[in-house]
Amino acid sequence: MNERDSEAVAAMLRARGYSIVDSEHDADTVLLNTCAVRDQAEQKAIGKAGYLLQRKAGSPNFKVGIMGCMAQNRGTDLLDRLPDLDLLVGTQKFHRVPDMLDNLIASERGVGPRPRTLVDLDTEAGSQDTIRDHLPERGPQPSAFVSIMQGCNMHCSFCIVPKTRGEERCRSIGDIVEECRALAAQGTREVTLLGQIVTSYGRREIPFVNGKSPFVQLIEAVAEIDGIERIRFTSPHPRGFKEDLIDAYRNVPKLMPYVHLPVQSGSDRVLRAMNRPYSAARYLKIVDDLRAAAPAMYFSTDIIVGYPTETAAEFDETVAVFRRVRFDMAFIFKYSPRSGTVSAGLPDDVPTEEKERRNQVLLDLLAEYSLERNARLVGTVQEVLVEGPAKRGENRYQGRTPGNRKVIFAASERLVGQIVPVRISESSVTALQGKLLLSSVDA
Ligand code: 5AD
Repeated sequence: MNERDSEAVAAMLRARGYSIVDSEHDADTVLLNTCAVRDQAEQKAIGKAGYLLQRKAGSPNFKVGIMGCMAQNRGTDLLDRLPDLDLLVGTQKFHRVPDMLDNLIASERGVGPRPRTLVDLDTEAGSQDTIRDHLPERGPQPSAFVSIMQGCNMHCSFCIVPKTRGEERCRSIGDIVEECRALAAQGTREVTLLGQIVTSYGRREIPFVNGKSPFVQLIEAVAEIDGIERIRFTSPHPRGFKEDLIDAYRNVPKLMPYVHLPVQSGSDRVLRAMNRPYSAARYLKIVDDLRAAAPAMYFSTDIIVGYPTETAAEFDETVAVFRRVRFDMAFIFKYSPRSGTVSAGLPDDVPTEEKERRNQVLLDLLAEYSLERNARLVGTVQEVLVEGPAKRGENRYQGRTPGNRKVIFAASERLVGQIVPVRISESSVTALQGKLLLSSVDA
């Protein structure tokens, strides 16, 4: 989500005549887009901003801004730590950045007073419609993110997102389809529909049609677009996996067999404490139903270890769910109290070393399952969307399988943006190596 918001801001700035440079060292303005989900993320951003601000000593017109969730969460208190910040921009004001920067620059030229810090942290009706610009001029974008909604009304006890992102607000199906069409025309083959809780998309604004929720209607509308070959989404809530969405995995071939389905915990008591309205059994039923609909399905999840009062036995229930699903990917978080959330009122009573232990148990399992799943692909031919050059190696390119596994293989620039067959020859925990089956590509 943050990557996408940053990209949209960059595109708006470009349209205003600013240029986007590759290195912060070449920039005369640096905007940090921030996360507030855990304290560690905030500390990292504050450290980085402090480091950047030192550059003002040698070049007073160098500008630093903080955008996004930490700006929204901490507000002007941040200025106590970072008094020299030029911009402080909340999550509903990304589109205001070009005007704010223009104003700052005008004031440096002596037009108007030089403000200390330009701050805009308000809510704004319609702000969900403003994250829509992309940067096609920076080369083909085989896979693109598309923001479909903002905010979340779920109020999980641990989560700061409702505070930083506000209430659920969705874009219209028409707008989203138009953006995807424009992307397809510029060579995008895969879109990932983004929101904090995509399965709640449009649930107050858009009626069900033939038993299909607004989110499933959106998926089907995007699937109609010529040129868009692959559809993914993140993040859903397990509660949103009703029959219509599970059927979509049967009926919409463009919907890729990879789902990020945050479970958070495998203990029913902890799930209740977290205000997550499902049981471990219900979660596993969704997994089984999805596997029945799409046997090749890959599963990813989010888990929090060391939630207040989580016992070792309750953690073992999480391990049991992990073993049962055999997750292919997982983001494992050590619980971090966030002020303003319900659980911040509870004692953070699982010791750091114990959180670390629980974290490691799951990371080890993940490595085992991920390696095993990758190893099973060796010898098979996978349809790979070529995304661009690999980080290392001459003429090495990387792409993704339908199950979202990274594949590295020898290719050439002209194949970027195409879906090509690749025979998998080697596997590791994080990636596959393969050989392009050139004969079947119309090159
Ligand atoms: N502490 C640790 N992890 C958290 N997450 C959200 N809030 C917290 C917190 N206070 C994790 C959840 C969520 C992911 C985006 O971040 O697992 O799904």
